[in-house]
Amino acid sequence: MKPNQKLLWGGRFQNPPDSRAMDFSSSLGIDLRLIEEDIEGSVAHARMLAQAKFLNETELKQIEDGLATILAEWRKGEWRPDPARHEDIHSAIEVRLAELTGPVAGKLPTGRSRNDQVATDEKLWLRKACKKLREHNRLFQRALVKLAEDHVDTIMPGYTHLQRAQPVSLAYHLLAYVEMIERDKQRLSFVEKTISDCPLGSGALAGSTLSLDREFTARALGFEKPTTHALDSVANRDYFLDFLNACCVGMMHLGRLAEELVLWSTKEWNFVTLTDAWTTGSSLMPQKKNPDMAELIRGRVGRVYGYYMALATTLKGLPLSYNRDLQEDKEPVFAAHDAYEKSLAILAEMMSDVKINASRFVDEILCDFSEATDMADRLVMKGMPFREAHERVGQLVRLMEEQERTFSTATTDEIQKHIPEWNDEDQLWLRLPPLERKKTPGSPNPKNVREMIVDWKSKINA
Ligand code: ARG
Repeated sequence: MKPNQKLLWGGRFQNPPDSRAMDFSSSLGIDLRLIEEDIEGSVAHARMLAQAKFLNETELKQIEDGLATILAEWRKGEWRPDPARHEDIHSAIEVRLAELTGPVAGKLPTGRSRNDQVATDEKLWLRKACKKLREHNRLFQRALVKLAEDHVDTIMPGYTHLQRAQPVSLAYHLLAYVEMIERDKQRLSFVEKTISDCPLGSGALAGSTLSLDREFTARALGFEKPTTHALDSVANRDYFLDFLNACCVGMMHLGRLAEELVLWSTKEWNFVTLTDAWTTGSSLMPQKKNPDMAELIRGRVGRVYGYYMALATTLKGLPLSYNRDLQEDKEPVFAAHDAYEKSLAILAEMMSDVKINASRFVDEILCDFSEATDMADRLVMKGMPFREAHERVGQLVRLMEEQERTFSTATTDEIQKHIPEWNDEDQLWLRLPPLERKKTPGSPNPKNVREMIVDWKSKINA
């Protein structure tokens, strides 16, 4: 670092930091992403200073114009601060403002530390990020519901242990994801609620001797109120950890659907065909069409879990209040956000143009014993204890399996040999569309599922 270089805290130092120290410690490459929020925060702070008479109207105008110029220069690509010269975005802007406006720039940091400044920038950024991600989730729900609408009667095997269990419909299966995504939106809303208070005015850790109007800046920046405790305000990163948790759970849900798409698009399952847009080929095997986007979404979940661990570990055992360790918070948060946002957008598109092999779903269900539970239930309706019904139907399954046959080929007489209580009426009942037999709320009965779809549509479009 050259001696003439401008740092915010040169006074008590005889020598500048080693260039390797600057290289190691500068966060500019990452927190540049907070430039808009940083300027927004500075404008609010300047207006508050003017109102509290720490700036006169001319000075305020100079500062506001300077900040507007910096933003314009940034947007036009005319100003690109150098990480070798500045510790972070806050310093870079302060130095640039001084270049543009002269000494008046030195009044902007009145009563403000980078500690409350960065916490404010982060909350401003996070508010927007949560809102955007909720919207992505809503669009994803919309894509799933749209697909579900066409497949209320597309029967498919429901699985437990990845073994065929009971029939469900594709619509019903997809709506399970819509439920998950709704909870993901709620997790993001929760994060938004925890950041409705503004740290600005907390100073480095213990507020200020100047009479700053914290209500003013909080309101100007769209917060409900100022934070209540300065020390906590500059040490707090709970909101980022909560956000990363929301990213982890949200990504985990996307990864589960991605995994199902990987399975379903195999020749073995052959339930769906992914379009060319979301698949890739093999450099060696000419015939290959691989579900790479789904695999990468599944894979990226692990990375996002890592980001959570990174921040959780940074925060662990950190004494109050601000420590430079906290600067490590932004990289995992931005990376998790980007992974989540991109995965959501891609998966929504994939679900919008996926081809469903509906006949294959139906064929499959005929060849298994997924009506077995319903048969046992039927015997219960006739007064048989469930355990006994379970045993008897189980025996029938074993027998049919030995003969390599399915329930659909069994006659009443054959069944009666093992289950004397079974009659023609029961046999007719067993041939009814299986989902319509379901009585409980929350079950895949098509009537239920149609109602769910109506509810979701009004909720998602509200
Ligand atoms: N770049 C720093 C961060 O993100 C800003 C706060 C620096 N504060 C300080 N006292 N060095 O945490």
